Amino acid sequence: MGSSCFSRGNKKTVAFIQKYLKDKQLNDNVTLKGAHCMDQCDKGPLVKIDEELIFHANEQILEAYLDKKFNIKTK
Ligand code: FES
Repeated sequence: MGSSCFSRGNKKTVAFIQKYLKDKQLNDNVTLKGAHCMDQCDKGPLVKIDEELIFHANEQILEAYLDKKFNIKTK
């Protein structure tokens, strides 16, 4: 939630992740929290999942990543 990532769209990204977790009933298994700047603003918006950084995060990239992470079959 650093200011650069926030201004590049992470507000939408957070909303998308929250909805994804709710829709997939994963809320009880996942901790979602904000973080300060990770000093890679030029690659933002940035999302960190476990120890992996996802650069230029958007809904499409995150949905594919999360589907794979949670072994969820896509449409
Ligand atoms: S604000 Fe996101 S990496 Fe700096």
